[in-house]
Amino acid sequence: MRILISEQRISERVQQLGQQLSADYSGRPLTIVAVLTGSLVLLADLIRCISTPLKVTLISASSYGGTRTTSGELSINDSMLSDLTGRDVLVLDDIFDTGRTIDGLLQHLQVRNPASLKTAVLLWKPARTEVSFRPDYCGFQIPDEFVVGYGLDYNDHFRHLPFIGIPDAEDLQAAV
Ligand code: IMP
Ligand code: MG
Repeated sequence: MRILISEQRISERVQQLGQQLSADYSGRPLTIVAVLTGSLVLLADLIRCISTPLKVTLISASSYGGTRTTSGELSINDSMLSDLTGRDVLVLDDIFDTGRTIDGLLQHLQVRNPASLKTAVLLWKPARTEVSFRPDYCGFQIPDEFVVGYGLDYNDHFRHLPFIGIPDAEDLQAAV
């Protein structure tokens, strides 16, 4: 598998994001809404780089249809989500592809009356964006390639890889 972003580069960038978030949210306790399952690896690393008080809560979003990327209708499960009223909320996901997943999540969370609502992703594919807004925090802009690793999956495989890679046909065939 070709490595697009190495473990080392991810680690450096996640540290920078943590510092930036610590500065931006200083004095404003943060609530991170982590989107299952893709954000789990990023969540674990990023929160250890944030020095200001924060809470973590979970939401799950999946779209019916594609095994690769979003297609079809978004299904949101917020049964684990804590109260967001008056909180400064940051939605954390693995990737902003078309942006439709995060768009749906923002609409879903806005009605819970957070004090503020922003988005952070590890990866953003600008060429594929189909919504009018952009992620507030982004680790890396990447080309329009299907990637796996560091939380990102194909058929729930490859999430454990410590780097971001571009799987070849053989890799995908093996992921059953
Ligand atoms: P969006 O709704 O198009 O922004 O897609 C977001 C979701 O599609 C992500 O949370 C991923 O689950 C999936 N996705 C999009 N691009 C990739 C990719 O390159 N690799 C793995 N999953 C992806
Ligand atoms: Mg996924």
